[in-house]
Amino acid sequence: MKIGIDQIGFYTPQYFVDMNDLAESRGVEPAKFTIGIGQSEMAVAPLTQDPVTLAANAALTFLDDEMRESIDLVLFGTETGIDQSKSAGIYVHDLLDIQPYARTVEMKQACYSATAALQLAKGHIALNPNSKVLVLASDIARYGLSTAGEVTQGAGAVAMLISANPRILSLENDSAYITKDIMDFWRPNYSPYAYVDGKYSNDQYIAFFNEVWEQYKGKANRSLDDFAALCFHLPYTKMGLKALRTILDETSEANQDRLQQLYEHSTTYGRKIGNIYTASLYLGLVSLLENSETLQAGDRVGLFSYGSGAVGEFFTGILEEGYEEALQKDTHRNIFAQREKVSVAQYEEMFTERLPEDGSEIMLSNENDPAPAYVSGMKDHMRLYTRK
Ligand code: COA
Repeated sequence: MKIGIDQIGFYTPQYFVDMNDLAESRGVEPAKFTIGIGQSEMAVAPLTQDPVTLAANAALTFLDDEMRESIDLVLFGTETGIDQSKSAGIYVHDLLDIQPYARTVEMKQACYSATAALQLAKGHIALNPNSKVLVLASDIARYGLSTAGEVTQGAGAVAMLISANPRILSLENDSAYITKDIMDFWRPNYSPYAYVDGKYSNDQYIAFFNEVWEQYKGKANRSLDDFAALCFHLPYTKMGLKALRTILDETSEANQDRLQQLYEHSTTYGRKIGNIYTASLYLGLVSLLENSETLQAGDRVGLFSYGSGAVGEFFTGILEEGYEEALQKDTHRNIFAQREKVSVAQYEEMFTERLPEDGSEIMLSNENDPAPAYVSGMKDHMRLYTRK
């Protein structure tokens, strides 16, 4: 039985800051941000969008009533969760009107957790072929104003429906994975901002990729020639390219050109949104599928997932016949078309705004927020959510 991604959609808030403006304001050569890091715009979340609403809005790009009835497992991957106890997935389950007889949990392992969710979903479908699983990956990346990581912030979510006989990508079984205890990036409970050893995390990302790639080749008895395209976790678009370059000499020059060209397509959306942690790899996959004109059914796509701390996994999927028709290309185009550029000063103001942390009440208007699901307020330490 084939199991895999039947639907995939993303959402990003309506505000963005231009990386040329940010570079100028930080006294940095713009090319460092746009070429050296590879980011042209960065999504900025207003107070009315948090990881819960971003995930709900991502799922609403494809969800229909038949799916609402058949989803019996909701897995929410995030590293910017809003509660130490209650799963963000429960709010989404409610906002989306999913039938009540479902399991719902939140999962955490830095940017990797959505991949763990995907693999668990696959096992669940293998045992329950009529079920559907909603996998959500949602984050607002915050390194802090004027830090080295600032240029690699972002906000957004990807939602995936996992099912038997998927319409988009069927997952293969021979993935390779590794866990090692390292301190390249972490966020203590008391800190709104991530701590990161940036250069070390770059090096570890590449080392993990090389290790799982070697493991995969032995396990699956395949080589780079067996792949139409590779997608990478993209904390910034240059990062995956650095990893890809380490293995390109394993194939012909023509294949190298093709892989690099398709890599560019996988970065088109991320370049305008920034790092969305758990969702970045999957945003890369949507970007690849919606922007490539050469991929076709039967092609094998490789995906490298990396979550600092750290876990790495390389896994693969095969594109299904007619996959193009199952994509939400127009909806995603509209999400970008609705966006509004903000100044660096406006971004800084939004970045520092917080919901009350003292139990006081606030009601928020969605007057300026086109998203269907939004944070409508906070009362007695409880977030209030509304769907239009
Ligand atoms: N024009 C073009 N490129 C330029 C440039 C210019 N004027 N100035 C610098 N660059 C290039 C550098 O050569 C470098 O390229 P390289 O990485 O290919 O060598 C790149 O821009 C970044 O410059 P660098 O000096 O290394 O940046 P930095 O010290 O400000 O830090 C990160 C970059 C990624 C380490 C930092 O943004 C960070 O900590 N990010 C968060 C952690 C992260 O994303 N980790 C990834 C693994 S999960």
